[in-house]
Amino acid sequence: MKSRLRYVLAGTGSRGIEMFGQAIVGPYSCHAELVGLCDINPLRMSVAQRRLGIELPAFTNFDDCIESLKPDTVIVTTPDDTHHKFIIGAMRAGADVITEKPLTVALDHCQSILQAERETGRKCTVAFNYRHAPFHTRIKELLKESCVGQVISVDFHYYLDTRHGADYYRRWHRQKERSGGLLVHKATHHFDLLNWWLEQEPVRVFARGDRQYYGSTRAEHGVRCLDCSYAHKCEFHLDLSSKPAMAELYAAAESADHYYRDRCVFGPEINIEDNLQVLVGYSGGTNLGYSLASFLPFEGFSIAFNGTKGRLEAEEIWGEGLGQSEENPFDRYGLTLYPLGGRKEKISIPITLGGHGGGDARLLKMLFGEAAPDPMGHRADARAGAMSVLTGIAANESIATGDVVPVPRLGL
Ligand SMILES: NC(=O)c1ccc[n+]([C@@H]2O[C@H](COP(=O)([O-])OP(=O)(O)OC[C@H]3O[C@@H](n4cnc5c(N)ncnc54)[C@H](O)[C@@H]3O)[C@@H](O)[C@H]2O)c1
Repeated sequence: MKSRLRYVLAGTGSRGIEMFGQAIVGPYSCHAELVGLCDINPLRMSVAQRRLGIELPAFTNFDDCIESLKPDTVIVTTPDDTHHKFIIGAMRAGADVITEKPLTVALDHCQSILQAERETGRKCTVAFNYRHAPFHTRIKELLKESCVGQVISVDFHYYLDTRHGADYYRRWHRQKERSGGLLVHKATHHFDLLNWWLEQEPVRVFARGDRQYYGSTRAEHGVRCLDCSYAHKCEFHLDLSSKPAMAELYAAAESADHYYRDRCVFGPEINIEDNLQVLVGYSGGTNLGYSLASFLPFEGFSIAFNGTKGRLEAEEIWGEGLGQSEENPFDRYGLTLYPLGGRKEKISIPITLGGHGGGDARLLKMLFGEAAPDPMGHRADARAGAMSVLTGIAANESIATGDVVPVPRLGL
């Protein structure tokens, strides 16, 4: 029997446990073995062990962890601004890496990661689950078949609601230096999809963005929900004690690191934007108009590819207030092709449920299942990870300076 690949999980928060830990100890345990955990919070690591149902060596120091366990692959699910330390440390110690998005939040860290990859010959895979959603894969197929000819422009609008969207203002994501703001933390998914769909690279960026809904927009605010005097009348009040899974993983582990999961979404120290508009010029001549708003009544996206032979429109909208059923949670869902001079065509695309439009399950299969061909190029390497964050980094600079900003060159 082929021996199982040995994995270390760095970062035992919800994403680490629920996406990767559970997959390795569960459906993929015949191919993969979880051999250890690393996190700065020993209490959270204990919860992780309980939830995963195994006792594992647990380290608060990554160098000790990797030296002692010598894993084949390190999975990185720590906060975004720390990814580079684990990615580079793992590769320099002889391990491959699977990292959550974004690859990192800074240009110099992109460069250092690519340099470490080149010098060590190790492989770094970025867990771009959105590529794997069948809906997004279908768009890739249609564009590859040249259904609209040469794509001249793209209109892409992404929507976050006040339930999921508000969560970016409660914890580390709210600090630009920790997450890169939504243009890096969240839009890395969208800019990666565009790079992958168009098979082009971003060249120059102009952006506007500000914060008008969250942050210091409300006089009646606290530090955190737990002891807020306005809790009884705040629609954003998060009662961690009413959510047992979160209470166990975060509230009960606070004494070790003071990581508060319920910080006030109106805190004055929030320095990320909540609404953003970006124009991007691509290497093949395509222009993108992109927007992201995080205070809406629903979630989803609408996108249109305008080409020399027609227009392809795609839309996916869902949300708690829309009254949809569990079998079909979408208020709007579908793909429509408008060929120039031809008849409009609705393109059938089955509804796929599961995390991130069915992308999570398919990504896990690619990462931990039997090796399989990858004709559409779903697997994303460190360069793809870097290219997707460079658009956001340039956009942040454009917001700060008011200038059109060239996308930094990787020089590798
Ligand atoms: N692809 C997706 O759709 C998706 C969804 C959710 C989260 N994510 C990504 O997954 C990562 C984790 O997200 P999360 O929501 O689980 O975050 P989290 O804050 O809940 O968990 C992060 C964990 O890392 C630990 N940690 C913090 N600093 C550390 C350090 N220096 N060394 C070791 N451990 C450290 C924390 O104690 C915590 O247990 C992020 O990069 C996020 O962007 C991706």
